[in-house]
Amino acid sequence: MEKEKEEALENYILSHIDEEGDLLRSLNRDAHVNLLRPRMLSGHLQGKILKMLCRLIQPKYILEIGTYTGYATLCLAEGAVDDAEIHTIEVNDELQDFIMKHLHKSKLKDKIYLHIGDAMKIIPRINCSFDLVFIDANKRHYIEYYNIIFDKVRQGGLIIADNTLWDGKVLEKPHHTDKQTIGIQEFNDMLAKDDRVEKVILPIRDGLTLIWKK
Ligand SMILES: C[S@@+](CC[C@H](N)C(=O)[O-])C[C@H]1O[C@@H](n2cnc3c(N)ncnc32)[C@H](O)[C@@H]1O
Repeated sequence: MEKEKEEALENYILSHIDEEGDLLRSLNRDAHVNLLRPRMLSGHLQGKILKMLCRLIQPKYILEIGTYTGYATLCLAEGAVDDAEIHTIEVNDELQDFIMKHLHKSKLKDKIYLHIGDAMKIIPRINCSFDLVFIDANKRHYIEYYNIIFDKVRQGGLIIADNTLWDGKVLEKPHHTDKQTIGIQEFNDMLAKDDRVEKVILPIRDGLTLIWKK
């Protein structure tokens, strides 16, 4: 599809789904003005998809690996049940003030537990059986995140992995220094063979894989 039509369709979608909402809109704007790589945040469409998945499966214990601005965290919180706990982990402590500034404006802030540090060190310390895990941190380490959370996800729980089409680069033979593309390709190949789960890749945005634990 030509770029122009793709953009027009995207705008059409955004004008025919629920509104982004004031808090998410102002967070999004703040990120575009003040942060590096604002495109990393989930954004309006993916945010509403995450919220809808929470509405459908009603998770109580949620884990997000890779907070960045807290955009997706707030979307997960919006869709989750009232007594849900959303644990979100961010390694970059310079983002803490930005994240807290926006989380504090949300009436859902009491559901959200922000952990600053490396997910690989923090996850073993969170004592929960998760109903939903959103993997969205360093693309080089998706397999490690998957392995470390797997036993902490309940049977019938959902794991969502973002960026699994990696701007179409999954189709290419990457240069050996392109560890992010290699990381995503290895994750997708591993997952395709993992019969402990059912999985489907949604070709939304940068690719969103839904993984259901049998
Ligand atoms: C794509 S952004 C997350 C976007 C966010 N989930 C959203 O949808 O709005 C990835 C984030 O993961 C963080 N990150 C990378 N490695 C990490 C690790 N080992 N532990 C925790 N966070 C990590 C990065 O600093 C970055 O802020």
